[in-house]
Formats: sequence, C-alpha cells, structure tokens
Amino acid sequence: MGKKAVDVAFVLASIVTVTLCKPPNIVFIVADDLGWNDIGFNNPDIISPNVDRLAREGIILDHAYVQPLCSPSRSSFMTGYYPYRTGLQHMVIDPQQPVCAPLTKSFLPQEMKNLGYATHIVGKWHLGFCNWNCTPTFRGFDSFLGYYNAQENYYFRTCEYYYDFRDNQTLSVKQNGTYSTYVFQERVRNIINTHDTSKPLFLYLPLQSVHMPLEVPKHYYNMYPNIQNEDRRIFSGMVTAMDDVIGNLTSFLTQRDMYNDTLFVFTADNGGWIQFGGNNYPLRGGKFTIWEGGTRAVSFVTGPGLKVRGTRFEGLMHAVDWMPTIVAAAGGEIKDKDIDGINMWDAISTGSASPRSEFIYNLDDMFLPGEGHAGIRQGDYKLIVGFPGLYSGWYLPNQTQDSVAGQKVMAAINASYQPDGRPLKPFTLENPQGWDDEPHLYNLKDDPTEHNNLADQMPDLVVKLKQRMAEYKLKYVPPNYPKHDPNSNPFIYGGAWTPGWC
Ligand SMILES: *[C@@H]1O[C@H](CO)[C@@H](O)[C@H](O)[C@H]1NC(C)=O
Ligand SMILES: *[C@@H]1O[C@H](CO)[C@@H](O)[C@H](O)[C@H]1NC(C)=O
Ligand SMILES: *[C@@H]1O[C@H](CO)[C@@H](O)[C@H](O)[C@H]1NC(C)=O
Ligand SMILES: *[C@@H]1O[C@H](CO)[C@@H](O)[C@H](O)[C@H]1NC(C)=O
Ligand SMILES: *[C@@H]1O[C@H](CO)[C@@H](O)[C@H](O)[C@H]1NC(C)=O
Ligand SMILES: *[C@@H]1O[C@H](CO)[C@@H](O)[C@H](O)[C@H]1NC(C)=O
Repeated sequence: MGKKAVDVAFVLASIVTVTLCKPPNIVFIVADDLGWNDIGFNNPDIISPNVDRLAREGIILDHAYVQPLCSPSRSSFMTGYYPYRTGLQHMVIDPQQPVCAPLTKSFLPQEMKNLGYATHIVGKWHLGFCNWNCTPTFRGFDSFLGYYNAQENYYFRTCEYYYDFRDNQTLSVKQNGTYSTYVFQERVRNIINTHDTSKPLFLYLPLQSVHMPLEVPKHYYNMYPNIQNEDRRIFSGMVTAMDDVIGNLTSFLTQRDMYNDTLFVFTADNGGWIQFGGNNYPLRGGKFTIWEGGTRAVSFVTGPGLKVRGTRFEGLMHAVDWMPTIVAAAGGEIKDKDIDGINMWDAISTGSASPRSEFIYNLDDMFLPGEGHAGIRQGDYKLIVGFPGLYSGWYLPNQTQDSVAGQKVMAAINASYQPDGRPLKPFTLENPQGWDDEPHLYNLKDDPTEHNNLADQMPDLVVKLKQRMAEYKLKYVPPNYPKHDPNSNPFIYGGAWTPGWC
C-alpha cells in the first residue's frame, strides 16, 4: 500500500514536471485567400464566432504582411526566407512545373521535430511535389492528409481534372464526395485524440477554405439571407464553414485537456481574390497584387505565454517571421543566420515594439504572366515600382462578379503576350490601356488605403527607397518558373497528380 502510494506520488510528480517543462502545443492555421474584410472581427456581416473569440482572447496582428500569392507565402512560412531569395517570387507553382521549395532550406516542421514535437499537416501543400523529397512527410511532417496543388474541387478532390488527395504518401479516395472541412476536421480529431501528450504537438492546418471554387454546404449558405450578391453569399458561407472546423478543433483540444497548453497562430496566406467572392475593403487591390489588399493579412495569436491580451499589435511583421517566431515560442532558436525572418515572439507576447521596421513586398523581374514588380516598406512609407497587379481598385463586398471580372482578367493576361513572345505593358482591370511605370509612394500611417501617391512630392525618398531595394536585390535569385513538363501528366500515373518526375 505504502509502496503503491509512493509510486503514484512519483508518477504524479513526473507528470507535473513534464507538464511544466513541456513547450506549448502549437496550431498554425493558414486560411487560403481570406481577405481583410472577410472575417467577423473586421466585418460584422461575416459569421465567424470561434475565430473572433480566439482573436479577442489573444492579440490581433494589425500589420502582419504576407506575399500576394499562395506558394510564395507558404514558402516564407516554412523557410523564413523571402521568395525572391528562393526563386519562388513569381506567381505560384503550377502542377506541371518541375519545381519545389528548395531542399537546401530547413523547414519549420523539421525545426519543431528537433525540439521534440509530433508534427502533422492537414490541408493544402502547394510547395511542389515533383519529387518525393519535396513532399510533406519528407520535409519534417510525421503525417499528411491533403492535396499537393491548388484550387481543388471541395468535394471531388480534383485539380485541373485530376485527383489530388493523399494520406501520407498514399492516394486516398475514401474522402471523395465529402466537403473538405468535414474531411479535415475528422483528421484533426484523430490527430488530437491519438496524440501522445507526453510530447508537444505541432499541427499545421493550411485549410482549403476559402479559396475558389465557390462551393459550400447549403446550411452555411442559408446563414446569409441578406447578402444579395450570389458569389459573396457562397463565399461568406465558406468562411463560416472554416470557422466551424476551428471551433471544433478547440473542443477536441479541450476534451483532451490540451487547450490551455495550446498556442494558436492564425494567418491568411494573401488577400481576398475579388473575382471569387473575397473582399479586402477598404484596402486597395487584392490577391495577386502588392497593394495592401493583397498583402496585409488577417492574423492573430492566442494562447499560453502571452503577457498581454485583448489588444491589437501595431508593430510590423512579415510572413518570413513566423518560422523563427514559432520556433522561439517553442523554446528553440534558428541557427541559420542568413534567414530573412526575425523572431517576433518577445515583441508579440509582451506587446512591445516590433524589431521589424522594414520589409520587401516582393522583388520579381519577370513580367509574364501578370507580375513584374517590386515593393518595399520602410517605417510608414511604401514604394511600389513596376506593375502592382491586375486588381488596382477599391472593391465593395457587393461588387464581386465572377464571370465579368474573370473575362476581363483573362483578356488582360492574354493581351500581355505578343505573338513573338515579347512582353507588352501589363494591364489592370481599371486601366486596360496598360499600367503606367511611374513609381508609387504612400504614407500608410496617414493613408492606409493608398489613395495619395506622394512620389512627385517626395522624389528624394523615392530615390532612397529605390537604393534600399537595390541593396536587398544583391541577394536576388531569379524566378524558378520553368515550362510545363509533359512527364507531370497524371494520365501516366493512373489519373492522379503523382511525384517522381523531377
Ligand atoms: C501516416 O503516418 C502516420 C505517422 O507515421 C501513421 O500513424 C499513419 O498510420 C499513416 N497513415 C497511413 C494511411 O499510412
Ligand atoms: C470521385 O467521385 C466521383 C463522383 O462519384 C467519380 O466520378 C470519381 O471518379 C471519383 N474519383 C475517384 C478518384 O475515385
Ligand atoms: C463541428 O461539430 C459540429 C457538432 O458536432 C458538427 O455538427 C459540425 O458539422 C462540425 N463542423 C465541421 C466543419 O466539421
Ligand atoms: C484552463 O484554463 C481555464 C481558465 O484559466 C481554467 O478555468 C480551466 O480549469 C483550465 N483547464 C485545465 C484543464 O487546466
Ligand atoms: C453596394 O453597396 C454600396 C454601399 O453599401 C451601395 O451604395 C451600392 O448601391 C451597392 N451596389 C449594388 C450593386 O448592390
Ligand atoms: C485567352 O486565351 C485562351 C488561350 O488562347 C483562350 O482560350 C481564351 O478564350 C482567351 N480569353 C480571352 C478572354 O480572350
């Protein structure tokens, strides 16, 4: 009896010790194409009670910047490097391109594994899959459920007509026909319920929501009877479906007594796609552009270790900062001193000044299709040179028009090619005669919506910021944007996008 009591006490003591020393579980949620005006805490028309609650219990990051597109932002999250230094700054990785995020760079889940974490990914990869070594379970994740590419169908898991869904390395068809938030929530539940709680958990949850195609179960759509614009109504339902998975995730954690030890990091990968229901109002532009609407992300952190809560963090932060910041929250440190990311953990968790005063929006010399721009931020000022992107206006939520805007975009992209392949001046929706090459300078403190171009009034600052950009450019790696490889053809592999051709 006495011996047993001692044993029990000993076991309890070890559990307590382990609990105290163990770093937090970390859930890193990435919402796909979620715009500034697409979440309840920025827009009361959107129903997202779970995300709103988490954000209010933590710190909303009011100036958290990302790249204007999926693959570039995700590569920044995983590596801590700007995409212009890894060749991923131009558009996104197409399924047929023999490209992936450079294997020479250490990935966030590898760093987490070194710190003793169990590491899982549920959702969208979009960092290349042409070689098995490019895929999630070879880059630091213990398990993977999801898809390699983008703009997948929410029910039938196809991307450009071919199936794209895997459980680790194995093609998985049993989820075919089920809306993706339900599929992902089942995996999340399973991961949490079978997690060995003597280890910390790192769950990377890059949800499919709320990227096009516009698809949502009817009851979410029905929650928005007042929205007249059909695309916007479906899209709003998709946000609520996403919110539902996140709410359920918090319940699963609570049921296993893991919730209080879990740090949530939430960010969009880029701004809303105005052509497919997304909205960034009052910010200018959207996904694809280096205007604020494409790059200023909805983001927050919540959980243990935060010494201030319920506020907005006004400091600057960039997508490249997440890798060193998450590793720091887990008690580690990135050894590679060449990364662009800065550890923001102390600043965010104590609400003190941001160590970041400057960042690069993008550096991309390649005009076609649809880019060819550079942007820098220094303090309150932002300079854009080149082509900011196709969507250069300020769009209200009710101005979503898939078919009309879609046609215009296609025509603009088509028109930017000449028969001999030379680039024409790129277009914007608002300016079909071609973009002007004048520099654009804004004071974002006074003018966060980019209405007043100060370039003519402040020519010295334009010169200074161009020089600063040139310094960053010393480390420029040209875009790795090769032609489509016929060996990628899923037909060769029985109808699914499959690694092994690069
Ligand atoms: C995927 O890998 C995890 C971790 O090794 C394992 O528990 C799980 O059973 C695997 N799933 C499949 C379908 O192989
Ligand atoms: C998924 O389901 C659809 C509809 O039933 C079917 O047409 C398709 O072949 C299925 N895909 C796979 C990979 O089984
Ligand atoms: C969340 O859980 C509720 C209650 O179990 C369920 O009805 C709902 O479908 C779940 N949501 C998602 C997106 O799986
Ligand atoms: C989690 O924290 C809340 C609020 O501090 C507390 O009421 C609850 O008992 C905690 N739960 C566990 C399992 O420690
Ligand atoms: C869109 O909303 C604005 C502001 O609420 C309103 O002035 C405008 O008439 C609306 N447009 C359409 C097409 O409903
Ligand atoms: C753009 O080009 C593609 C391929 O040549 C063509 O199918 C499509 O009709 C064009 N779209 C527009 C709007 O010009």
